[in-house]
Amino acid sequence: MSRPKNDTFLRALLREPTPYTPIWIMRQAGRYLAEYNATRARAGDFMSLCRNADLATEVTMQPLARFPLDAAILFSDILTVPDAMGLGLYFAEGEGPRFERPLRDEWAINDLTPIDPWGNLRYVMDAVSQIRKALANEVPLIGFSGSPFTLACYMIEGQGGTDFERVKGMAYGRPDLLHKILDVNARSVVAYLNAQVESGAQALMLFDTWGGALSNAAYQEFSLAYMQQVVAGLTRERDGQKVPVIVFTKGGGLWLEKIAAIGCDAVGLDWTVDIGEARARVGKRVALQGNLDPTILLTTPEIVRREAGKVLASYGAGTGHVFNLGHGVSRVTPPENVAALVEAVHEQSRIYH
Ligand code: CP3
Repeated sequence: MSRPKNDTFLRALLREPTPYTPIWIMRQAGRYLAEYNATRARAGDFMSLCRNADLATEVTMQPLARFPLDAAILFSDILTVPDAMGLGLYFAEGEGPRFERPLRDEWAINDLTPIDPWGNLRYVMDAVSQIRKALANEVPLIGFSGSPFTLACYMIEGQGGTDFERVKGMAYGRPDLLHKILDVNARSVVAYLNAQVESGAQALMLFDTWGGALSNAAYQEFSLAYMQQVVAGLTRERDGQKVPVIVFTKGGGLWLEKIAAIGCDAVGLDWTVDIGEARARVGKRVALQGNLDPTILLTTPEIVRREAGKVLASYGAGTGHVFNLGHGVSRVTPPENVAALVEAVHEQSRIYH
């Protein structure tokens, strides 16, 4: 297998030279696109969309048909893993993801076993291989998973975006139980991501959406240590091509040196850090991905171009930057602002390469 025709994304992650700064956008296939909403309506609901390889392929390709993005990302969700563990994922309309059977009892935690990605997550692997075929080697495909800690947050709280009272209560009151869950999650994530690579994923990303809610010491013990365990278990080369790994802790700006030291190729940045300062801290070890505030995409094309230019200038000359937002694109984003962003990054970045 040769590298994709447009391999700027893979090259930037490996800090090899590129003619311009590549860009993709977190949640690039999503509700800000009318065609996504139409396909989702055909599927019936979000999980049916994820479980149907034809439809998952269709929505993965939609943003690429509109914008000259430099990477595709598997259309799925991080919560497929706890769902496969039997926790009963559902999406309450307008409320985000929820679990029917969150982990609240010691016996349920002791019963937890790692998932088999080729068992009831085979639909994800089918989507990966079908998307690879549809991409026809134009741009690389990113596979992904939630981090062991972020998955544990949903598994214990039963939903996201809380104050994490239950998870933190367990971290301080029964750390043995939380470590048990995290160990099962880490083993599951390794198997899940390696199966995605076997199915055709060409780069991997770990989403640690809630690690930033932890104290300094708790972050290292309950999130970072398990991401390190995951990274150590991943397939890093396939068909003679390196498979780069990106680690993104939202709210992790204080810990960049520590994240950069766990063996990943790139670190994702949210919008709270200056990317130039981040580069000075860790740019010799890893590539950086980020970090425009997604809210900027709610303004005008002129402002989008100006603010994108600031991120590019802050990173400065040389390779090792994958342009992205600091978090997922908002559902009320005008698509023409995304078009302006992709064009601005491609045009304005050439002088830095
Ligand atoms: O980036 C992409 O285009 C790939 C697809 C992708 C989705 N979710 C699709 C999705 C990816 C990479 C994710 C990751 C994900 N899912 C994370 C980590 C990244 C982050 O945002 O921090 C998290 C925490 C989740 C859990 C989850 N799933 C949430 C919080 C939601 C949103 C709930 C809401 O209504 O806003 C989902 C649902 C979801 N996952 C949607 C999409 C496009 C929207 C669902 C819909 O169509 O109704």
